[in-house]
Amino acid sequence: MNDNQPPQDPHPAPQKPPRRKRYSGKNPRRFEDKYKELEPARYSADVDKVLASGKTPAGTHRPIMVAEILQVLAPSPGDTALDCTLGYGGHALAILNAIQPAGRLLAMDVDPIELPKTEARLRSLGHAENALTTRRSNYAGCAKFVAEAAPNGVQIILADLGLSSMQIDNPARGFTFKAEGPLDLRMNPERAQPASALLANLAESALASLLLENADEPAAASLARHLCASRSTQPILTTTQLARAVRSHPGSDEDTVRRVFQALRIAVNDEFAALDSMLRQLPTCLAPGGRVAILAFHSGEDRRVKLAFKNGLHAGLYDAISPEPLRPTPAEVHANPRARSTKLRWARRTTATH
Ligand SMILES: C[S@@+](CC[C@H](N)C(=O)[O-])C[C@H]1O[C@@H](n2cnc3c(N)ncnc32)[C@H](O)[C@@H]1O
Repeated sequence: MNDNQPPQDPHPAPQKPPRRKRYSGKNPRRFEDKYKELEPARYSADVDKVLASGKTPAGTHRPIMVAEILQVLAPSPGDTALDCTLGYGGHALAILNAIQPAGRLLAMDVDPIELPKTEARLRSLGHAENALTTRRSNYAGCAKFVAEAAPNGVQIILADLGLSSMQIDNPARGFTFKAEGPLDLRMNPERAQPASALLANLAESALASLLLENADEPAAASLARHLCASRSTQPILTTTQLARAVRSHPGSDEDTVRRVFQALRIAVNDEFAALDSMLRQLPTCLAPGGRVAILAFHSGEDRRVKLAFKNGLHAGLYDAISPEPLRPTPAEVHANPRARSTKLRWARRTTATH
């Protein structure tokens, strides 16, 4: 013992918990202040109230059309499945449970921030270690992943396109125009350039094409001219700066802002190239008779899925495809408004070996 140290108090006073952050109003509005929603295990009753009000608790994601997906994918015990878009793991968990015992789930996601959290959550549920294999990768690499992890192919594939609520709701990720944040819009912030850099350097005509092709923006040409004029007065570096610049274009409304964000997001993540590449690889990933289901959220995605499945049917790669897209029930849309625009399509691999 060191004689120079003061004697320790045998009954120290309990430490005061840190003071809760102040915010105006009854409930926190900012993502980072929603400490109860961000800790669902501790505040489950509060999280249930948020869900009952039709909102998605901060830091989580509600899987869409789970029952319909399980019906078309028909997972059975012992199957190997691939989830191309793990996200919060809601669909993954439903599939993982349905393929036990002895089933394996391969899961990929491009997001380096959310993937480890979801993997830890899934692993804590007590499935066998080898029931889950994750890979941080773009789904354009799905054939390589399957060739390495399941060389005989998989019985089930799911792709739930677009963004998770954790990504959308966190202003630091720069996806939402409803809160101030860096104009980033990358699902993998370690790759490529943020949307602010893309917007600063695009020629007016390229910006107009991007708005038209990625979001069917009806005023693409004049809006591109307006945004180029705005950026020459003041650089557009944050989400709210871009939203303000769009709103100041005559005829713009909140849907215009949403379309501009969608168009830039598709561009910075090269989403259509990744989707086309994944769609081409699906038949080689599926074992004979295997099923794939894809959830799309806007016409640019759904058109591609529809065409790829139709071409696959004509080429004899698939022996059945969904005649029409399936839609969420009105009850699901009411409970989760983010399900509103969802279209689910499926295809079945021919039973002949490939
Ligand atoms: C709608 S969320 C998936 C939600 C998930 N089904 C669930 O139940 O939580 C879409 C996910 O796909 C990921 N993603 C989007 N594009 C991707 C790509 N090209 N490659 C891999 N992951 C991608 C996003 O990072 C996001 O986590």
